[in-house]
Amino acid sequence: MTIKTFSFLAPPIIFGIKSAENIGEHLTRLGARHVLVISDRGLEKAGLVNQLCGWICKANVAITTYVDIEPEPSIHSVRACVNFARQAGCDLVVGMGGGSAMDSAKVVAALLGNAGDIMDYLGLNKIPHKGMPTILLPTTAGTGSEIGRGAVFYVPERQSKEAVFSSYILADLALIDPLLALSAPASVTASSGLDALCHALESYTGRAANPLSMPFAELGIKWIGKWLASAVVDGGNLEAREGMALGCLYASIALANANTHAVHALAYPLQGKNRIVHGKANSVLLPYVFKALAPELPEKFAEMASWMNLARGVSLVEGITCLAEQIGIPAKMSDMGVTASQLEDFTQEALQVRRLLDNCPVTLDATQIQAIYQDAL
Ligand SMILES: [Fe+2]
Repeated sequence: MTIKTFSFLAPPIIFGIKSAENIGEHLTRLGARHVLVISDRGLEKAGLVNQLCGWICKANVAITTYVDIEPEPSIHSVRACVNFARQAGCDLVVGMGGGSAMDSAKVVAALLGNAGDIMDYLGLNKIPHKGMPTILLPTTAGTGSEIGRGAVFYVPERQSKEAVFSSYILADLALIDPLLALSAPASVTASSGLDALCHALESYTGRAANPLSMPFAELGIKWIGKWLASAVVDGGNLEAREGMALGCLYASIALANANTHAVHALAYPLQGKNRIVHGKANSVLLPYVFKALAPELPEKFAEMASWMNLARGVSLVEGITCLAEQIGIPAKMSDMGVTASQLEDFTQEALQVRRLLDNCPVTLDATQIQAIYQDAL
């Protein structure tokens, strides 16, 4: 047997109920004196930002908060935060929230240690040096931003979603406390949870899958398959929240090391052109993309179906479709405002997302991609 050379990367991780309360210890260890907390208005309203600042206070550090990160942030939103942070003179960034707040925190920390503008850093390995240290606390089990080295932003001038990719934005600590997800609304739990399932399914089937990423993908599929519906139905079910947080952690480690492919590639135009949020865009496309891939990968699909704990005879695609319906994900793109006249443009734009499409186990051409969009319409 010859194993292809592979690498594996993950930040330091602490996982556990109430683990966020001890953030002060980690701030002290990292030498923080003035902490910038980046979060959003929703979490501020829910009282989580105040709670976090209370825990941070135990480290005897100055705190500046910035809660104006917009959902699915644009580069302008990040710029505003960087300008604010440069004036405040912070030396460590804490990002708490979903992907929007954590992606912003990663790039703001990078820009605090490097000159220039976010536009200089869009793309692969464009950041010259590591910036300020970062601690990331996810409040939705989904994006996996706390684990990976990517951060995605909306560029209004091009109506596109574009990413910063660099090892220099990897967190210094991913602090995962399932209690922080208790206030996430059912719709967010559903779409971010299905996005996390996409991460596990795509990283397992992608060309970049490797012997260390695959066991994490398998565990992600098992844990998310087991707990997602319960976490959506009863957000106060702590066992389900903990199961989803762990499942998402597994999926995120697999994602960070083996990447996604066709679902995420086809979801890009929905986010850029129609401003559909990341989790929803991936969730609506997942069953249709996997339906198209199923005939090419019968063994892997059977394996993944067995991990989802489906009833006997139910295929992976049927199981995913049923789960999506059960947790309230719209069945069709047209339910989200997409029209038939957009599909040609979507296809051309998706074809440009080579970073992901080239990781797809099946080479998809324009005709096949447009057929998937048509099916999902
Ligand atoms: Fe995703």
